[in-house]
Amino acid sequence: MAAPRIWLVWRIGVFLAALTPLLFWGWQVANNAAGPEPGRYLLLNIGIGALWMLLLTLSLTPLTKLTRWKGFALIRRQLGLWTLAYATLHLLSYALFILGLNWALLGSEIVKRPYIIVGMIALTGLAVLGATSNRWAMKRLGKRWKPLHKFSYAILALALLHFFWIVRADLREWAIYAAVAALIMATRLPPVARTLPKFRQRFSR
Ligand code: HEM
Repeated sequence: MAAPRIWLVWRIGVFLAALTPLLFWGWQVANNAAGPEPGRYLLLNIGIGALWMLLLTLSLTPLTKLTRWKGFALIRRQLGLWTLAYATLHLLSYALFILGLNWALLGSEIVKRPYIIVGMIALTGLAVLGATSNRWAMKRLGKRWKPLHKFSYAILALALLHFFWIVRADLREWAIYAAVAALIMATRLPPVARTLPKFRQRFSR
């Protein structure tokens, strides 16, 4: 009985860790500590948070291969759903604070900022993956489930493109996220993927 309890504590810990930034940013806004544009503060921070969540989710498979620690695999679905939650809140803050819920503005906004379309495609992809991440969908999709969920890498590329488009005048921060993404993607290349368990064996000697 002890082992399942440890995994439950681990999962609750991850849940609280994922929730904390949102509570912190909300608290900053409520206490007038979010600068002159609290809506934008939320939009940008939650956008970065969504990217973090996506990168963390995609790092869990290589980390499992490298360490064989079950804990990483156990939180994959949870972090995937957190990515979707962050991206949805990012969209909500855009709709609320930038559009003021005036959807008629969306057309001219998209013409002015085409990166919004890229963000929308990424969010739609995340929603599809979120909706098919349960056991029922896994069973129904069978062999098609894995290739479908490989689209998470395309979503990562779209999220990076969305970010690139916004910050292209100064790519320093973006380059760090792109480098981490490239590292995670590299671990999926068959020759690299094959060496990960060997690394583990070398270090466990
Ligand atoms: C419907 C979907 C989306 C919309 C409408 C949207 C819209 C926006 C807008 C308006 C900005 C601010 C641009 C500015 O500086 O003026 C932004 C920034 C950003 N978004 Fe999105 N976005 C969407 C989806 C996503 C997704 C799925 C991700 C990541 C997984 C993401 C990550 C980011 C990041 C990292 C930033 C830059 C934050 C910064 O400059 O510090 N967005 N987005």
